[in-house]
Amino acid sequence: MVLVDIVEGLPQGKALDMNQSGPVVGYEPNVVGTNGYEETAGSEIVVITSGSPRKPGMSRDDLLETNKGIVGSVCKEVADRSPDAVVIVVTNPLDAMCHVAADVTSFPRHRLIGMAGILDSARFRTFLAWELGVSVRDVTGFVLGGHGDTMVPVVSYTSVAGVPVSQRLSDDRLEEIVQRTRGGGAEVGKLLQKGSAFYAPSAATAEMIDSIIFDQKRVLPCAALCQGEYGVDGLFVGVPVRLGRDGVEEIVEIDLADREKEELQKSAGAVSELVEAMAALG
Ligand code: LAC
Repeated sequence: MVLVDIVEGLPQGKALDMNQSGPVVGYEPNVVGTNGYEETAGSEIVVITSGSPRKPGMSRDDLLETNKGIVGSVCKEVADRSPDAVVIVVTNPLDAMCHVAADVTSFPRHRLIGMAGILDSARFRTFLAWELGVSVRDVTGFVLGGHGDTMVPVVSYTSVAGVPVSQRLSDDRLEEIVQRTRGGGAEVGKLLQKGSAFYAPSAATAEMIDSIIFDQKRVLPCAALCQGEYGVDGLFVGVPVRLGRDGVEEIVEIDLADREKEELQKSAGAVSELVEAMAALG
């Protein structure tokens, strides 16, 4: 595993620290930290987190211009050295940054994936588990659409040990939980004051990596380039995908409730506006 950062000493220090946890946690200390890209050559999976994080009060979309430049230059270095990699984009605004990665790398759509849906779903599941006093393991639910204020927690497929959550909670309470989920990242950022969430985003990314490396074929919500699926064409939005050794092996289409369909279209519209705003930046 190779960690890259532009700050001198930072990736080297993190790598050294991680290596020293190997004997305790049980892995070989093979983490390399570097300020360049040579060591990344031939990577199977590349996770892109480079860019500015949100400051309190900023929306993810406020980062568009700065992070477009950063993600674009990183993707170029990656594509030159690891032409067969599966790329997982984490930088915000997530869906727009997936488009930057697609433009710069020209990788096929199955090898370009955005991390957002698992994170948003994890927040949704956490809030529901707390509300109902049950284990998060028994709360199934997922969040689709863009990784922004218009994301779509799919209530119609959310269940607790197989029982639809709508049988356990009132519409009003569910709506409050949906809204808290939408603001989940901002809530963390507001508390931290500096930087944004780390643990849940990295756990979500690790789940994607496991599914790819170990060919688990998990069905997980991720940002993928839709080409007609869910009535969306030519845009990266959060949809359920089957993740295996080749990356996105399938975009899994499910029947949504009418309201959710509308919300997903609205969310795709918000992504489309960002992509257009990015094109206007040149
Ligand atoms: C969040 C950032 C990673 O939602 O977008 O926490």
